[in-house]
Amino acid sequence: MTDRPVSSELLRRPRRLRGTPAMRSLVAETHLHPSDFILPMFVAEGIDEPRPISSMPSVVQHTLDSLVEAVHEAVSVGIRCVDLFGVPLEEHKDAVGSGAWDRRGILNEAIAKLRREFGNDVLIMADTCLDEFTDHGHCGVLSTDRHGAVIVDNDATLTAYARMAIAQAEAGAHIISPSGMMDGQVRVIRQALDEQGFSDVAIMAYSAKYASAFYGPFREAVGSSLQGDRRTYQQDPANFRESLLEVELDVAEGADFVMVKPAMPYLDVLREVAQRSPVPVAAYQVSGEYAMLHAAAQNGWLDLEAVMMESLTSIKRAGAQQILTYFAVDAAKVITSS
Ligand code: PBG
Repeated sequence: MTDRPVSSELLRRPRRLRGTPAMRSLVAETHLHPSDFILPMFVAEGIDEPRPISSMPSVVQHTLDSLVEAVHEAVSVGIRCVDLFGVPLEEHKDAVGSGAWDRRGILNEAIAKLRREFGNDVLIMADTCLDEFTDHGHCGVLSTDRHGAVIVDNDATLTAYARMAIAQAEAGAHIISPSGMMDGQVRVIRQALDEQGFSDVAIMAYSAKYASAFYGPFREAVGSSLQGDRRTYQQDPANFRESLLEVELDVAEGADFVMVKPAMPYLDVLREVAQRSPVPVAAYQVSGEYAMLHAAAQNGWLDLEAVMMESLTSIKRAGAQQILTYFAVDAAKVITSS
């Protein structure tokens, strides 16, 4: 007996395919590309200089001008799609969020400006949701039920979403992205767009969107007025099955893309949706996912570039074809320089 097995006893040696960078690259099943990424961006009304967001290092609220510059930078590293969120002045918020469909509302101004500047070279996606525009911060309009309790009124909200989507399409958005988790939102938006001659405008549906504490930093990013939570419309993190129902409904209602959000804590959901969906599946690496990697890196606990690339790879490996991420530009730079 020798104390080492002779090699012929080990037919399978998986390490053979890990031996060199060239071999690892040859067998890699997942490759990230800058065009996988969608860059979420914030544009604020009434500021002269970009405003930092303390819980999201390197992310800012843009002015209209700095937004254009930042999109040029994104394009220069291969990003082909940006997702815009508007931050109106406090005094322009109201109970129904009418700034959302005002042609001169900050989000619609920003869409129009980018469309004039970039034409079809960059896909302009717009967040189609009222929470940035309502003075109570909910994603829909409020009313009272038959027993006098305050509720987020699903069907009244749908009418507002249809108006918002049309205003965004008129301003030049290529992709409408309803994120409010109202039942029937995709159907109502699709119908409204088609009636107004925007049958070419696509819908990326936030289909499986959870009521997640990982959205914390985003609330600072958009100056959210929300008190309370969104648990009557966003999904319970405990549940899996209803994600499949939400995706099925959105596909049936005409969604061109479906999305799972957040990403890393919901990779199981993403995986299953990716296997079942007949349309492209996106995932949103949300503000809290971004913030926690940065925070650990600032403490010297994690290597930021390494965990950025690993987290994005894991999201793509789980099945996302598009990844919304605040790391988009940084990751694209890493990819193009390697
Ligand atoms: C709603 C919206 C939210 C995010 C994207 N769209 C916030 C929410 O649902 O409370 C969160 C994104 C993030 O955390 O990065 N308009």
